[in-house]
Amino acid sequence: MQFIDLGAQRERIKDRLKAAIDRVVDEGRYILGPQVAEFEAKLANYIGTKHVIACANGTDALLLPLMAAGIGPGDAVFVPSFTFAATAEVVALRQAEPVFVDIDPKTYNIDIASLEAAIAMVKSQGRLKPKAIIPVDLFGLTADYDAIMAIASRENLLVIEDAAQSIGGSAGRTMCGAFGHVGSTSFYPAKPLGCYGDGGAMFTNDDALAEKLRSFAFHGKGETQYDNIHVGINSRLDTLQAAILIEKLAILEDEMEARHKVAQRYADGLGDIVTAANNPAAGRSAWAQYAIETPKRDGLKAHLQEKGIPSVIYYVKPLHSQVAYSAYPQTPTGLTVSEELPSSILCLPMHPYLSEADQDRIIETIRNYIGSNSAQAAAE
Ligand SMILES: Cc1ncc(COP(=O)(O)O)c(C=O)c1O
Repeated sequence: MQFIDLGAQRERIKDRLKAAIDRVVDEGRYILGPQVAEFEAKLANYIGTKHVIACANGTDALLLPLMAAGIGPGDAVFVPSFTFAATAEVVALRQAEPVFVDIDPKTYNIDIASLEAAIAMVKSQGRLKPKAIIPVDLFGLTADYDAIMAIASRENLLVIEDAAQSIGGSAGRTMCGAFGHVGSTSFYPAKPLGCYGDGGAMFTNDDALAEKLRSFAFHGKGETQYDNIHVGINSRLDTLQAAILIEKLAILEDEMEARHKVAQRYADGLGDIVTAANNPAAGRSAWAQYAIETPKRDGLKAHLQEKGIPSVIYYVKPLHSQVAYSAYPQTPTGLTVSEELPSSILCLPMHPYLSEADQDRIIETIRNYIGSNSAQAAAE
């Protein structure tokens, strides 16, 4: 059994992928070939934004909007502490300061009261200028953008949606990637929409911002490639990866439905014995991960491993507790949820090709372990 089974997907579209890859190799336009623009247009249509700017990876997709907005030394960018390092890393790379905010215990996304407290603290201290928020749609579930955008417009902050885990997800009629002033995603192979290497993209409806993002991703180019108007970087999506992504995007909706069914089966099978994630009422999660919480997590993980069932702890440590990030500011109301969650959270196998038989075995193994443990505890 696989945690994420990319092989099953590859088998499904193998012939189309091979033909697409051969075409790129034969045509020889390996950098910015026609498949890149084609993929950008198809993805823009799917997400519902005017512009998609493909780039080299999800980390650059977060870094480039900070560069385009001129965020740097003396600036504060509010980020959740319970996320992948890249969310805060890009802020520190710009020599600005990530300010760590706690997460909501139910959604695992940035907590609004904690965000408000962090902004008030930065303003009252006066050392840093509040400039941006990077909410993360963790595990595929949309952050609370109604509240976040209201705060952002009141405080004049840029919102960069970290949609690395949420392509295919939505809230209301809006697809993830289309929230905030700019959305950023990753096409790392294990993501809901992944390529066969590194890749990323940015989404925006703002023409001027889109032009700047394209420039910064291409050595700060102006009118031509040899006209440099900004200090930029080299961040492009390879033509080969774009060709692969065109084929994967074509089956994404179908895969989202399959993920939704897997999530529902987990919720039905486990909801009474562990804290299990549920499908959101409005919109849908992209189900990049399926997380459960149990105080018996360590024993359960070892038991699953014995039975040949993979599971992963995302994340073992919140960012504010990591050596690289421990000196950066934190919200004044504490980061309790981010600190406590790593001891009870466990992510189960989740992908569109998980068979009902395999899933039933996972559910039964968890039920047997938690049940026998509870009986043992009751007897002691
Ligand atoms: C929440 C989050 N942000 C950013 C990234 C960075 O993406 P990449 O690995 O493509 O640089 C990732 C993925 O690994 C992620 O999970």
